[in-house]
Amino acid sequence: MVYSILFSHMESKRLSKALAAAGIASRRACEEIIFAGRVKVNGQVIKVPQTQVDWQADRIHVDEVLVTAEQKKVYYMLNKPAGYLCTNMRPGKKPIVLDLFPDSERLFTVGRLDKDTTGLLLVTNDGHFANEVIHPSSNIIKEYLVKTLQEIEGHHLETLAEGARVDNKWVKPVSVTKVRRGNFKICVKEGKKHEVRIIAERAKLKIVELTRIRIGGLVLAQLPVGEYRTLSKQDRDCILSAQ
Ligand code: URA
Repeated sequence: MVYSILFSHMESKRLSKALAAAGIASRRACEEIIFAGRVKVNGQVIKVPQTQVDWQADRIHVDEVLVTAEQKKVYYMLNKPAGYLCTNMRPGKKPIVLDLFPDSERLFTVGRLDKDTTGLLLVTNDGHFANEVIHPSSNIIKEYLVKTLQEIEGHHLETLAEGARVDNKWVKPVSVTKVRRGNFKICVKEGKKHEVRIIAERAKLKIVELTRIRIGGLVLAQLPVGEYRTLSKQDRDCILSAQ
């Protein structure tokens, strides 16, 4: 197997950026791969993402696989089923999201959903695209439908709207709306781990089902659980342009 890269820019660039451009993973995930000692430049393990590399002069391997030539970028939206993990590393025998794709070798998820969260998840081999979507400066709104054990009352909505401390940062939802008994919708921008669950817990609500239904202007709509479809250029623009 050979990873690929476009040799259009021959000047040197940061190792993490070069790997993301080659579609190995998002920029942040590439940094993790580098820190983990999985990248060799000219036969030497390099653990510093800022290392300058030149595609013409340097031979770069990820997990002993040479990174060369051009790779077609692919973009998918999946309706993630519950019970699947968002990871490229298989933890034991647990199912991972990429099991749902027949040729998943170079794919990775754009951000993560918890194991038991269902709904809209982007999957790609384009590190630049992934980076744009998950970077906090993109301010992309993610909308979730939340089913709770309790009926939603006014005081719940007030507490939910206040937000909660997640990862040492106060996360305040963009909006919170009651849909019907035991169901509310919440929009957040941050993309922090477990954020909706933490916000709901602060409002003393027990989540029964959590589903992501929108990322930017892209909605999950009628895509059946466990199925995926290719994203058009228009779909991708829609994700990035909508606030
Ligand atoms: N917030 C959560 O708590 N979990 C998810 O999976 C996504 C957002």
